[in-house]
Amino acid sequence: MTVSRVLVTGAGGPAGVAVIRSLLKRDDLEVFAADMDGWASALYLVPAERRRIIPAGLAPEFVDAIIALVAEDAIDVIVSTVDAELPGLADRRAELGAELAAPSAEALHTTLDKWLLMQAVEGKARIPHTELLTQEGAEYDWVFPVIVKPRSGAGSRGVHLVHTRAELEAAAGDTSQIIQENLPGDEFSVDVILGADGHVISAVPRLRARVDSGVAVAGRTVHRAELEDTAAACAIAAGLVGVANVQLRYATDGTPALLEINPRFSGSMPLTVAAGVDMPSLAVDLALGRELPHTVPFQEIAVTRFLEDIFLPVDEIIASS
Ligand SMILES: Nc1ncnc2c1ncn2[C@@H]1O[C@H](COP(=O)(O)OP(=O)(O)O)[C@@H](O)[C@H]1O
Ligand SMILES: [Mg+2]
Repeated sequence: MTVSRVLVTGAGGPAGVAVIRSLLKRDDLEVFAADMDGWASALYLVPAERRRIIPAGLAPEFVDAIIALVAEDAIDVIVSTVDAELPGLADRRAELGAELAAPSAEALHTTLDKWLLMQAVEGKARIPHTELLTQEGAEYDWVFPVIVKPRSGAGSRGVHLVHTRAELEAAAGDTSQIIQENLPGDEFSVDVILGADGHVISAVPRLRARVDSGVAVAGRTVHRAELEDTAAACAIAAGLVGVANVQLRYATDGTPALLEINPRFSGSMPLTVAAGVDMPSLAVDLALGRELPHTVPFQEIAVTRFLEDIFLPVDEIIASS
């Protein structure tokens, strides 16, 4: 059996924990866990000699530090679960010395900008009508209220409703923001995985039943063709390969429309794995160039979560700045 070495970054976040737990089930992988913080919980799910402290994703030395780590630990595959790390890694993919389980630099560029994303998907799946926050954009024939939000944002920061045209025109002139049709219906999050040729292997929609500090703490998977098909069409239009999370919300016309795509593993990945689609494992096989099943089915299943404790000798905690 060939054993491959996989480096997973973001060991302190829910996505990193989920990926590490999934990959630890395989006896043909050696999992290295990395984070910028020595207190990151999933560092301590792997043996002590496979824990690594790395710079922050936006630090100028980040990619060089990963290249050095890959060489030293003979890493075969890098799985980054941190948004901030992805563009830098994808830009220097050829220099990394290991396969990067992430979309192309171009697809990352598109998905990390909600304006570019809507333009890429327009005509291929239902999108909410979207304009830049310019005077011209404000003059469109909007049905109020509308949503105004940053092109590049996260964690709902800066997302707000605008109720009148006067208010919209007063805010106009900021092309770092978009104006968008308000989607008032139910919201679904769809984990997708696409093969090397860009076809969708699986799209698993879930309803977030309870959310605590932005993290879904209860939910369920849902079989519904219009959600699976819309998410798949959006992911294909964005040029993605591998794993991504497509967020949809129902419009007033009763159809699901695209909110955004996060080009990485979601924090709710354990539910998708439990539903029958082990996306972290499939993503590593994809990066290793192995053949994947053409499609993988999923079942409806519910989850409710709690925090779990890892107790350690005090001197085992790795010092980090
Ligand atoms: N067009 C919209 N209509 C209704 N709600 C929206 C719209 N855009 C964003 N929201 C709400 O704001 C949240 C965050 O927006 P999103 O586009 O996912 O950006 P991010 O998560 O990157 O901050 C969404 O989950 C949704 O609840
Ligand atoms: Mg979002």
